[in-house]
Amino acid sequence: MCGITGYIGFREAYPIVINGLKRLEYRGYDSAGIMMYDGDKIHLSKTKGKVSDLELITDKEVERKNGNIGMGHTRWATHGVPNDVNSHPHFSQSGNLVIVHNGIIENYDSLRKELISRGYTFKSDTDTEVLINLIEEVKKQEGCKLGQAVQLALNNVIGAYAIAVFDKTKPNEVVVARLGSPIAIGIGKDNSEFFVASDASPFIEYTKDAIYLEDEEMAIIKLGKGIKVRKINDDSLVDANVQKLKMSLEQIEKGGYDHFMLKEIHEQPKAIIDTYRGRMLADEGIIRMAGIDNHMNKFLNAERIIIVACGTSWHAGLVGEYLIEEFARIPVEVEYASEFRYRNPIITSKDVVIAISQSGETADTLAAIKLAKSKGAFVFGICNVVGSSIARETDAGAYTHAGPEIGVASTKAFTTQITVLTLIALKLSSKKGELSKSDLRTYLQKMQLIPAKVEALLKIDEKVKEIAAVYKDAKNCLYLGRGFNFPVALEGALKLKEISYIHAEGYPAAEMKHGPIALIDENMPIFVIATNKGHYEKVVSNIQEIKSRAGKIIAIVTEGDTQVKEIADHVIEIPETEEALTPLLTTIPFQLLSYHIAVMLGKNVDQPRNLAKSVTVE
Ligand code: F6R
Repeated sequence: MCGITGYIGFREAYPIVINGLKRLEYRGYDSAGIMMYDGDKIHLSKTKGKVSDLELITDKEVERKNGNIGMGHTRWATHGVPNDVNSHPHFSQSGNLVIVHNGIIENYDSLRKELISRGYTFKSDTDTEVLINLIEEVKKQEGCKLGQAVQLALNNVIGAYAIAVFDKTKPNEVVVARLGSPIAIGIGKDNSEFFVASDASPFIEYTKDAIYLEDEEMAIIKLGKGIKVRKINDDSLVDANVQKLKMSLEQIEKGGYDHFMLKEIHEQPKAIIDTYRGRMLADEGIIRMAGIDNHMNKFLNAERIIIVACGTSWHAGLVGEYLIEEFARIPVEVEYASEFRYRNPIITSKDVVIAISQSGETADTLAAIKLAKSKGAFVFGICNVVGSSIARETDAGAYTHAGPEIGVASTKAFTTQITVLTLIALKLSSKKGELSKSDLRTYLQKMQLIPAKVEALLKIDEKVKEIAAVYKDAKNCLYLGRGFNFPVALEGALKLKEISYIHAEGYPAAEMKHGPIALIDENMPIFVIATNKGHYEKVVSNIQEIKSRAGKIIAIVTEGDTQVKEIADHVIEIPETEEALTPLLTTIPFQLLSYHIAVMLGKNVDQPRNLAKSVTVE
């Protein structure tokens, strides 16, 4: 959480840093700050609020924008409430050192007390101000350079960090370090300029060459000289791998849509194709996934598969459970990563763990992976962000290839995760002989039709908007589904709550009568998935039960349905497909509905309150 970015080189740093912050705002947006060094003075501007609020400050005084060196921060508060003082960057006591930090210093309290006993005073409540003063104190005590001071200080720190530190007395360099929070370094031509950021999006138009620091690594970046990467704990030099970035500028812009979320909803047909491209030869009935093929025995001999994830990715994991058990007949358990990591779970080398994460940075999921590995399990990752921490930590994996997801509410990540899980389930099933070659071919051919069906579904936008207008003032909503579509009900409810702040719950449709039915009255909208092959008659009975209690029914049905149409207040039709593939379709109207309700209520769709895209703290 929190985004950091910085520039050192020959260009005006301000527009690079401020635009970089806007691109990183998905990571946190309760306060923002920027420091500019003009060759003589450091100008610090920071405020509670968004990057646009920060610009109001810098627009008033031009000198705040001067210089070829700058560092910026967009915050998701951990220690200290979001206010101007707690915003980053933070100065050291002497005013020479400046830091931006993403992460948490867990032992900050004892370090702070120690520093206070040495005469330090603190302006903010943040752990970050403690860290920069610790670096200053070490530098003073040891009489060393900035890089060494950062290294020694970090060896006394417990927690997680991605930091960039600048020293006014040595303005040709920036020191960065990482443990648990990501950091990318963009490299300009002939070492004439460098960029630093939580991901590569702030510098994508300037360079395609980047180094991603690994955990426990730091880099000393010197203008004209280059980058030295070291291990923080043993000082050994690291031969850093310079990667060629594939991301394009177009991918991280809104492309004519009002919001990233809407753009990403509409990108799903392409994203699903990108996910299965090269992996699925439908007419031949072949699935090729290197991460699975190279470790097939692990999967075939697995006594069970444990899926770990958080939030929307956890919902995709639940769909995965239904898919893998149905097709491959391997027992699957789906766990919240945050629970799994702390509940002393029974894991053995006979288990295969699948970790699912869009960002690839979620702290709980990462910790769950480390725990599973330490117990000997084979860990397979499903991530969207290439080169992310989870992608690197896992033994093997498959990228979703959805492209950057910037809207905080996950949309295309969900459908592409389900696409990968479907391929895995079908692949394992055919390998185990559960599914014949011709049945596999049929499934893959139907899978191939899904993107066009999603495309067609997106055209019902106007209808969904009309439904949104009817229910936008609801205080509570229920989402019901069964089988493959039970997780879609959970996901539908999550989408609504997180961007419109309307309370919503997802339930297996039949569970309704074990409690939630008490909530139903004429003010309660109930969204029910009633696809024709998904326990249809049973869901129809559930709908009747709602009807007789005056609840408002909005049903998602298969095209051509007549029975539900007669009872429901509104119906949304999805194209016909195999029941196992319906989550890729039924989820679309829910995404659109949440989007329109949030827009109608005037909410900040892409940056809902209190949330952040990448949850790198537990
Ligand atoms: C909901 C949402 C979150 C994430 C969760 C896990 O729309 O985005 O619930 O799904 O924080 O994030 P990743 O998938 O990055 O591990």
